[in-house]
Amino acid sequence: MSILITNIKGLVQARREAVRTVRGNSMKDLPTIENAYLLLENGLVHSFGPMAESPERADEMIDASGRYVLPCWCDPHTHIVYAGSREGEFVDKINGLTYEEIAKRGGGIVNSAKRLEKAEEEELVESALGRLAEMEAFGTGAVEIKSGYGLSYDGEIKMLRVIRKLKERSRLTLKATFLGAHAYPPQYKEDHEGYIRLMIEKMLPTIADGGLADYIDVFCDRGFFSADETARILEAGARYGLRPKIHANELDYSGGIETGVKYGALSVDHLEYTGEEQIQALLQSETMPTLLPSTAFFLGLHEPPARRMIDSGLPVALATDYNPGSSPSGNMQFILSLACIKLKMLPEEAVNAATINAAYAMGVEDKMGTIAPGKKASVMITRPMPSLTFMPYSFANNMVERVIIS
Ligand code: NIG
Ligand code: FE
Repeated sequence: MSILITNIKGLVQARREAVRTVRGNSMKDLPTIENAYLLLENGLVHSFGPMAESPERADEMIDASGRYVLPCWCDPHTHIVYAGSREGEFVDKINGLTYEEIAKRGGGIVNSAKRLEKAEEEELVESALGRLAEMEAFGTGAVEIKSGYGLSYDGEIKMLRVIRKLKERSRLTLKATFLGAHAYPPQYKEDHEGYIRLMIEKMLPTIADGGLADYIDVFCDRGFFSADETARILEAGARYGLRPKIHANELDYSGGIETGVKYGALSVDHLEYTGEEQIQALLQSETMPTLLPSTAFFLGLHEPPARRMIDSGLPVALATDYNPGSSPSGNMQFILSLACIKLKMLPEEAVNAATINAAYAMGVEDKMGTIAPGKKASVMITRPMPSLTFMPYSFANNMVERVIIS
């Protein structure tokens, strides 16, 4: 099966050489071939180049006149397996409560855990498949999905089994992350040791045995898990070969960034509270700083210092954080708009952050994130647009006309 896309106004992020991340100044370079063709064969990128060199025929021909073609977005941080919704808390926030105050009253993550406990596995699979379909329509081709609304042995294992079913049933590339350390469940509020031991002694062995997770996560922040608690959980995860991807420095200087770097995290995410020391720690590491601008937008947090990170030479990735409490949307195009508008990232930087750097942040940079021979045929074709900048500029509109997945 071959698909030939011709007359492409701009073939974006087409790179013949293998890149794993783009950082600092290079983030504003986005290789684009004008008036291009792209040939996809048997689920992989076969070749591309200027129209003058285009092959003539393929099984399916697509004329992309006036349109851009990009590699699909990767979304390296989501919580899309959940039951119910939390629009009541949305109103609480309008009335002046903060995310932390809502959590202290038994709302927030614990609220979602109560609903998840009652939900059947199949209903969780179906609702998450619906969310994946929504995300794909906005151009997303790969998604990292976390547990973390179980907060008990049965609940966490149930969530990870749901993610395994999603991997079997979805066309998208998916990764599973164990986030038992998302919040202390009410019965362990005064017994942190007990819950940490439950995770380390009971949950982790089952997860490792069943190959249920690719990564391990901890919400390392004020009012959630301390840096010391985080370190213990990450050490235990490492014994089972689980690399960390952690929630860090969303609510305060939590030590999460430094702890993540120390334990070789693939990514540290959120980072609203990032200063010079944290930037220096990240510069010495292979850890991807991943920013979630829709969460800062939805909760009214101050913005992470994306500009300072990039200008210091760091790479930056973007993700939706799709979840019922702090970011109830999986629209990556809106994330690009927020990155430009709120984080002052250039459109080219935002595209690099949402493709190759996001692919790295979920460990799929060898097969996604750029258009390169042999990579997965996961591409989006835009609506006709005057320029690529038009996409983040026309915020909240869906500028993607068609998504091809393998
Ligand atoms: O990434 N910060 C922690 N976890 C999620 C929120 C989860 C929730 O509120 O349900 C986040 O924002
Ligand atoms: Fe999150």
